[in-house]
Amino acid sequence: MSCSLFFSFGMSGTENVTGDDQKKLDVLANDLFINMLKSSYLTCLLVSEENENAIVVETEKSGKYIVTFDPLDGSSNIDCLVSIGSIFAIYRKKDDGPATEKDALQSGRELVGAGYALYGSATMIVLSIGNGVNGFMLDPSIGEFILTEPNIRIKPRGKIYSINEGYEQFWDAATSEYVQSKKRPKTGKPYGARYIGSMVADVHRTLVYGGIFMYPGTTEAPKGKLRMLYESIPMAYIVEQAGGLAVTGTKNILDIVPKSIHERCPVFMGSKDDVQDVIDLYKKHG
Ligand code: AHM
Ligand code: MG
Repeated sequence: MSCSLFFSFGMSGTENVTGDDQKKLDVLANDLFINMLKSSYLTCLLVSEENENAIVVETEKSGKYIVTFDPLDGSSNIDCLVSIGSIFAIYRKKDDGPATEKDALQSGRELVGAGYALYGSATMIVLSIGNGVNGFMLDPSIGEFILTEPNIRIKPRGKIYSINEGYEQFWDAATSEYVQSKKRPKTGKPYGARYIGSMVADVHRTLVYGGIFMYPGTTEAPKGKLRMLYESIPMAYIVEQAGGLAVTGTKNILDIVPKSIHERCPVFMGSKDDVQDVIDLYKKHG
């Protein structure tokens, strides 16, 4: 096991559809996801960050669910052993015809469920099927995920902001004013800054400690980096199910119907009151 893991580090020498360099573990995780989902006989369509086109499951293995996933999120953290994760969302196919890519273009309001796995100091699956959020910790001694964090709720306000500040010069006025207001508040203490660069780890910390995670649009990339179907929407669903909020600045992420399977959107998610401050600034800067 450890031997094959050593050989799994490093680059695969390929790029995925959105231009990111693929690591060997990205490719391995993607193959595992696809094989497991196909052999469940429950899915008809799979959308992966690593595949340009949606994968139509062969008829003899086909079921009624559509699964969108990022098999290994936070790839830039693989080689330095920092936490990474997997993200998934589950939709229902709406009609009986053969599955096509269009069947995956549904808003987050139509989700059957969504979740993520975080590979950190322990491994945890965080899952919602529309009635709150539960966390299941892996107990390696028995190989089972145990419900250790039932009914996870996010604080209404936190003390941490999370954003890649290296892109500050490309931010819009609302994002700049928001971050300034956390660093140099008119009253009270400044927020702490934390940014891991793995969305799963940054959002999980936000869920557990409160605060806000942001990946805004920039002048270079007006829709930001994070892809809706397998990054922004499933994480927004978890955050909202835990009592938080997730918006693009002007719209609730769960209300948007993606127009293409790899479409991106700006992301501000976390504690309700913190995200409301961002919404207010977007209104102000209109
Ligand atoms: P990936 O799916 O290629 O790993 O990219 C997504 C990741 C997110 O986990 C994270 O929030 C973001 O990229 C970090 O990007 P940046 O390095 O631009 O801050
Ligand atoms: Mg990703």
